[in-house]
Amino acid sequence: MIGIFDSGIGGMTVAHAVEQLLPGYSLVYYGDIARTPYGPKSPKTITDYSIRNTEFLLEKGAELIIVACNTASSVATQALREHFQVPIIEVVTPAANRAIETSRNRRVGVIGTKATVKSGIYHKTITAERPEFKVYSEACPLLVPLVEEDWLNKRETKMILRRYLHPLKDKQIDTLVLGCTHYPLLKKLIQARIGKKVTLIDSSIETAKHVKHFLLSNPNLVSRKDQEQVSHCYYVSDCTETATKVAQRIFSRPMELILA
Ligand code: DGL
Repeated sequence: MIGIFDSGIGGMTVAHAVEQLLPGYSLVYYGDIARTPYGPKSPKTITDYSIRNTEFLLEKGAELIIVACNTASSVATQALREHFQVPIIEVVTPAANRAIETSRNRRVGVIGTKATVKSGIYHKTITAERPEFKVYSEACPLLVPLVEEDWLNKRETKMILRRYLHPLKDKQIDTLVLGCTHYPLLKKLIQARIGKKVTLIDSSIETAKHVKHFLLSNPNLVSRKDQEQVSHCYYVSDCTETATKVAQRIFSRPMELILA
């Protein structure tokens, strides 16, 4: 079984991509809605929460963990790998690699939470591979609460996005990493604001592709199931009407969120 966690519902964009790319695998998800957002919190707190979330998923039978949260991936991956035996897959490296492959002018923008941007993880990962790349990052702390509130198409959201993306518009980037798993829900607005010439990199899709590749190379790590035995369970630490609504929007089907 594949275990996936996020601070809230954003990681469901990863879970959705995993469901589609890996239909033969059961999946258990944990969204820590009660403690969201993680972005403004300290690395220690984010790491403690990530350890607790992983323990929960392992109790439910997870054999591999996807940290479907850029914030937790940025600051807690190493601690998770030290603490647990199972493979820990994070979302930053797949997105950074795709940005390297995509950018022609070697100027990449990254938007994410405060903790992700402060960690400098995208800059480090991209320039470790390709030192000639320029990476420009902007923290967008108001976007996660807007997504969690389902304010996806409001005038205020567009205004806030305009403000956040403004500094990147001057940097002649040709690639923009959506460095937070909540942001794919704002993809259309972000694309409209940053312009058609900039390619958006969705960390959720890139991570699902990476997991598929990983499982093809390690076929015995996670048990496969017949189609009728596959289960997808979505647990949350707080169950709100809005969360259910956003989940349904992500999966385009009725969703039952289980309070854990
Ligand atoms: N989806 C998380 C991320 O990718 C959300 C961060 C938060 O809770 O602030 O960074």
